[in-house]
Amino acid sequence: MPSGMSLHAAMFGTTLEGPGGTELARILDGAMAAQVAAVLARLGVPDLLAGGPRPAGEIARELGTAPDPLGRVMAAAAVFGLLRRDETGRYSLAPPGAMLRSDAPGSARSFAAGFLSPPLWASYGRLTRVVASGQAADPAAPGGIYDDFRDHPEEARWFARAMSGVTSLLVSQLTAAAFRPLGGSRFVDVGGSTGTLLAYLLQAVDGSTGVLFDREEALLEAPAFLAEAGLSGRADLVTGNFLDEVPAGGDVYVLSHILHNWNDEMVRVIAGNCHRAGRPGSSLLVIEYLLPEGPEPSVGHLLDLIMLMTLGGRERTRAQHEALLGEAGWALARDTPLDQVLPWHVLEFRRD
Ligand SMILES: C[S@@+](CC[C@H](N)C(=O)[O-])C[C@H]1O[C@@H](n2cnc3c(N)ncnc32)[C@H](O)[C@@H]1O
Repeated sequence: MPSGMSLHAAMFGTTLEGPGGTELARILDGAMAAQVAAVLARLGVPDLLAGGPRPAGEIARELGTAPDPLGRVMAAAAVFGLLRRDETGRYSLAPPGAMLRSDAPGSARSFAAGFLSPPLWASYGRLTRVVASGQAADPAAPGGIYDDFRDHPEEARWFARAMSGVTSLLVSQLTAAAFRPLGGSRFVDVGGSTGTLLAYLLQAVDGSTGVLFDREEALLEAPAFLAEAGLSGRADLVTGNFLDEVPAGGDVYVLSHILHNWNDEMVRVIAGNCHRAGRPGSSLLVIEYLLPEGPEPSVGHLLDLIMLMTLGGRERTRAQHEALLGEAGWALARDTPLDQVLPWHVLEFRRD
């Protein structure tokens, strides 16, 4: 975006010439830019521009949305360099906007639509109060965004798609490392969402079977996903609340991107429920972004902030995981770093 088209650069006036002015203006404009990208992604506007330039009114008619607000969003998208607007007023895709097409290689559509959705965005707006009060998220609503998803299944679907995108990246790391889990052949993927990780585990261990356990609305896309992977016959879908109990009889309990959503007290509850459901010799496979022990900056610190804002959870170091899960009766048996893309580690614990 040319600096003359930055709202904050314009408002800074001569201050902009001081050190850091342009960078700060870009950071502050980022909130609006992110929402504009999220709206385009959610509505599928980039898909409708894939064939060439079109006026906003035509796009609005095809989507069945009100033309006035959509036209204004598209005009702003041209300022942010997501779209281009020609002299006749027709819009086409600029390279960043093209990445939001559903069929773009490595499409970013679900990340923008799912991780910047209204419930998550609302939680970002609470950060000042969270920090000022020291009260992470809303203690009266321990389900947080997940309860919101129950009431708005469309949000749950977009979140699950975005999560599946992240977990597909994780699976590519597991594949590259030829990762094979410790333990037996009955997996219980606790909070397993669409089943992206369970599918990898079932394919990695011959003759294995699994349970995909999650809230009802989170499993909406799982049957089609598992059918397409040819795994429907090897996975049972079970709905429930892991804060109450998890399905019994597993050899390997899987908690992927789960514990970071929760505070320490809830982690003890979830890990304790897995311990009760398992048997001697069962294992617990935890996948999380580990925070560095030292002062070096890490993407983990950004994920940590998201956890603070959304559910009052946190990212943790390996030692913190070991200590917390140890209290619930799990002893660390293996740590597999897969940190080429994000700071992922697979921590495998044995039940005492
Ligand atoms: C961050 S997602 C992780 C999804 C999946 N494990 C992965 O790695 O892609 C967290 C999952 O926990 C599920 N979840 C949240 N609260 C839950 C609860 N109380 N009981 C069962 N599942 C829950 C959500 O529905 C969601 O699918």
